[in-house]
Amino acid sequence: LPLAFLTGKKDRPIFIGHRGASGYYPENTILAFDKAVALGADMLEFDVQQTKDGTLIVIHDPKVNRTTSGKGYIKNLTYEEIKVLDAGSWFDPRFKGERIPTLDAVLDRYLGKVRLLIELKKPSLYPDIERHLAEKLRERGADQLGDGQIIVQSFDRRSMQEFHRIFPAVPVGVLIKNRPAGISPREIRGIAQYASYLNPKVTLVNKRLIKRIHGCGMKTFAWTVRDKKTAGALLKMGMDGIATDYLDYLTKPGPIE
Ligand code: G3P
Ligand code: CA
Repeated sequence: LPLAFLTGKKDRPIFIGHRGASGYYPENTILAFDKAVALGADMLEFDVQQTKDGTLIVIHDPKVNRTTSGKGYIKNLTYEEIKVLDAGSWFDPRFKGERIPTLDAVLDRYLGKVRLLIELKKPSLYPDIERHLAEKLRERGADQLGDGQIIVQSFDRRSMQEFHRIFPAVPVGVLIKNRPAGISPREIRGIAQYASYLNPKVTLVNKRLIKRIHGCGMKTFAWTVRDKKTAGALLKMGMDGIATDYLDYLTKPGPIE
């Protein structure tokens, strides 16, 4: 089948903007999220951490160093200190003045308009972040939203078990990094006890794995597609979602060599 056909299909994978349209704009900013929506994202993926004074903010690393004008661990900085940092210039001076968004700002702007894939990044640094996130989502009626409008994911399985226990109405996903041994059927069955998604690094994906995950009643999103060839191959493989920095590789796929 031509790829363009797959892209338009109803049961095609969900297209997920990884940290927004982060191949073209500074990751995890409102600008990157707006552009991801404009490029055809069905879902926005982003990472959540917590400031010293308990504000949930959207940033990938536990430190602000790589993506902002500041320095230090987020857990040691107050939101007053965080909100003035420049989160755009590191990517390109054109984007000077972009800020680290709060989770509230992202929920205000996108909840109910585009699906949200919320990653708890290093939750072990932030005691009780699961309860904090659950409260925030509950306040906003996340349990009334349709299936898969919000998904919470993490590499940290304890954290996902905890979130699921506190707020089972919002599905959780377990992220798995690349590893030579792959993912065993036993491990998949264990994760399915509490998770609705098993989301592997793209290098772990094959048809047998997808079948096993589906066989345990879960869905599966692959991350992170950064080249056209992988995008084309994954579109045909039966994933439920694909996270990419370059949404145009999914929405306007070219021929595969
Ligand atoms: O969607 C999964 C992916 O975001 C996990 O890796 O490092 O980009 O947060 P990372
Ligand atoms: Ca992430």
